[in-house]
Amino acid sequence: MGSLKLRVAKWSIGFLVMSIAAVCTSANDAPAADALYQVQDGNKVDEKTLKGWKTWRALACERCHGAEQEGMVGPSLVESMKKLSKEDFHTTIMNGRPEKGMPPFNTSAMVNENWEGLYAYLKGRSDGKIQPGRLQPMQ
Ligand code: HEC
Repeated sequence: MGSLKLRVAKWSIGFLVMSIAAVCTSANDAPAADALYQVQDGNKVDEKTLKGWKTWRALACERCHGAEQEGMVGPSLVESMKKLSKEDFHTTIMNGRPEKGMPPFNTSAMVNENWEGLYAYLKGRSDGKIQPGRLQPMQ
């Protein structure tokens, strides 16, 4: 009986230590590891989001959506990203909407590799958490 209690107690302490460790780690790195994007000072982002921004620049999406995603020929993505699901985003950039002037990007290796980072970047812009313009890697 006593040894069972002891085992339970040991287990509880072990669990407690793990929980505290988990809380401390997440407190240090501020945003949770599974966050869509991470940003510091508005212009330093995690690697995936940085690649998303680089993809945005490389494919020159700003030709139609504006350098600050404010909209030109294409709609303001600051607004669009508030409503568009991740799945619809994916479909739209891959297949485009050729009849409406949005080209397909499914032949771009960079878009195929980084579309989730691109989604994260545009969500960050739409949320007002990521500043327009140049981004840097987070430390
Ligand atoms: C040649 C101009 C052009 C370029 C370049 C372009 N787009 Fe578009 N995009 C459009 C137009 C026009 C629409 C609106 C289509 C419609 O009316 O449904 C659109 C729609 C979108 C939408 C859907 C918005 C919504 O509200 O449903 C997303 C997301 C999007 N574009 C992302 C991108 C990304 C990312 C890139 C770069 C990889 C890009 N676009 C490049 C013209 C462009």
